[in-house]
Amino acid sequence: MTDTTIAPNAETVKQDTTSIWGADVASGVAQFLQPLVVNLTALSVDGKQAHWHVRGQNFIGLHELLDVYVDHVREWADMVAERTVALGLPVDGRIQTVASSTTTPTLTEGFTSTSDTVAHVVSQIDATLEILHKGITDLDDIDLSSQDVLIEIERGLVKDRWMLFAHIAQA
Ligand SMILES: [Fe+2]
Repeated sequence: MTDTTIAPNAETVKQDTTSIWGADVASGVAQFLQPLVVNLTALSVDGKQAHWHVRGQNFIGLHELLDVYVDHVREWADMVAERTVALGLPVDGRIQTVASSTTTPTLTEGFTSTSDTVAHVVSQIDATLEILHKGITDLDDIDLSSQDVLIEIERGLVKDRWMLFAHIAQA
């Protein structure tokens, strides 16, 4: 039973939440969050690559929209990473780890038409939505707060997918 009469000091205060939730819960959550940090970081890096190299019809709209999208995915990577760290576990967002473990398809090198750019970026979003959907489903039994983070990101990423895909959709 916790002693509530003596406040902890820097040596005795709980170092992280694993002592509250259990180490297996935190590591269970981390297995869904780590791949998302990787993929969302990959989306932000490749989003800039697409922003720089897109050419053709609707150039300015797509060029500028890709920067908005990059801001979103960077923010979401930060949300997921900080949720992991807040639970007391490290996260691996190193560029080598991102490059070796992302599930996003590789972008075409160099200048790319607007329609191909949209198709490539949307395919990267879809690869990330697969991870998100599995995480949302499986976290239902593990940690609802982490699931909530993923649900918020899913809603935003699907909206960004729509904004991009509308450029090539058949009316
Ligand atoms: Fe720019």
